[in-house]
This record gives sequence, C-alpha cells and structure tokens, in this order.
Amino acid sequence: MTKCPDSVVSCVDMNGDELAEGVLRYAFRQLLGNNGYVHVVDVPESFDHVAFLRELGTFQPTPTGTVVGDVKPEWGMDDVNHGQNRGGLQPHTEGYEFRGTPPRYLALWCVRPAEGRGGETTMLDGDRVLAEFDESERQHFLETVYQWKSTEGLARRGVVPTAEHPVLEERDGELIFRYSTSYLEIPEGDELARRLIDRGGALYEENHIAIRYKKRDLVVWDNWRMLHSRNAFEDPQRHLKRVQIAG
Ligand SMILES: [Fe+2]
Repeated sequence: MTKCPDSVVSCVDMNGDELAEGVLRYAFRQLLGNNGYVHVVDVPESFDHVAFLRELGTFQPTPTGTVVGDVKPEWGMDDVNHGQNRGGLQPHTEGYEFRGTPPRYLALWCVRPAEGRGGETTMLDGDRVLAEFDESERQHFLETVYQWKSTEGLARRGVVPTAEHPVLEERDGELIFRYSTSYLEIPEGDELARRLIDRGGALYEENHIAIRYKKRDLVVWDNWRMLHSRNAFEDPQRHLKRVQIAG
C-alpha cells in the first residue's frame, strides 16, 4: 500500500496569497530535516527554482556533465535501465557508483507533467530499512567494502563508473546510506547484504510515497537518507529539470 505524501509545502497561504520567501524557506527546511524530503506545490510562474536551490549548497555536475540537467525520454533508450527513458526504475540512492561523496540533496522540478498513467517520483525513508538491522549488523555495513556497478543506460552513453565503498559511511557526524537494488555486488555468503536488498525492496514496495507532478512543482530530498525511484510512464513529452547539490 502506498503511504500518502505528508511533507508538502504550498507557496500560497489560505487566502491564496504568495508566502513570503522567508516563511517558505523556513517551512521547507523544517520538513526536509524532519521527513527527509519536501514536495513544494502551488508554485507561481515567477518562482526561480535555481535561485531557491542554490541556498541549499553547491550544485554538482551529473554523470553526463550537466549542472542543471533535463530529465526527458531519449530516443532508443527504453530497453535499458536508465533515467532518460520511460521505464520504471528500481530503488536506489544517487551516486553509489561513483568514488566520491554522493550528492547530499537531489532536486527535480516539473516543466511538463506526464499525461496519462505513471511518471511519479517515489521515495522511502532509508531509516526504515536500517531500523531492521541491529547495532552489530549496521557495523558490518560501515566496515565492509562492496563493489558497485552502474546502469546499462550510462554505459551506452560512455560512462562506465565502478566504485568500492561500504553501504554506510560516517561524514562529519552524519550517516551516508548507499543503496542499489541491482548494482550492489553481493558477495557469496554475505547474508546481511542479501537481507538489506531484499528487505529494502519489500519495505519500498509496501511503504513508498509517490509524488505526482503538477507544472512547476519542486521535489527535494536528502540523498544520504532517502531511497528513490520512478514509476514507468507513457507520455514522451514528460520533462523535469534536475540538480544535484553537495552537502
Ligand atoms: Fe536516481
């Protein structure tokens, strides 16, 4: 069963008047910290998504080098697991296949919503997955170095990263959680890693939230904490903008 989104902030008040920038920012920060994500709705045409997001941190280039990227179906990519097609994706955190620190925040905003079925961004709080593991099991995820591969879609674009790092990493007193349904290489006999992916998948299936976009809607999440994915869609015109933000 899909849980209803409960981390929504509107750009307008009960009278339909636009919220002052400071008020919006305060509500946004609070929800992001508490729930790990925020869905900003009722976004006016004058809203500057890029300027709003710059306050969160430095933008990081995506694997294909764009800083403010487009998420649009690319022709001829529907047959592989890839962000730039119309297929569904599997739950993951962003940047697991790269050696460096994954982006702290990911942001998507909607230029053109998908007509018809599908296209929702889905998410699950990674803390719910980690809560299934006790102290010593989490220690295993801090200490064990795993191999991570990347998607066939990126490979077809000439980007073939692989990285080695643990599932959990501590950075400045905060925890980074990396997760990939298909691209974490599970070593023979590592029951904990097997359980992580299996339980993560089952919890995702049962408890994820699904965000359906209206034009200009903005979704931001803490990529060190949340798992995300996408439902398949049909509309070839669906168009989102995307940025990755360093901590
Ligand atoms: Fe992603």
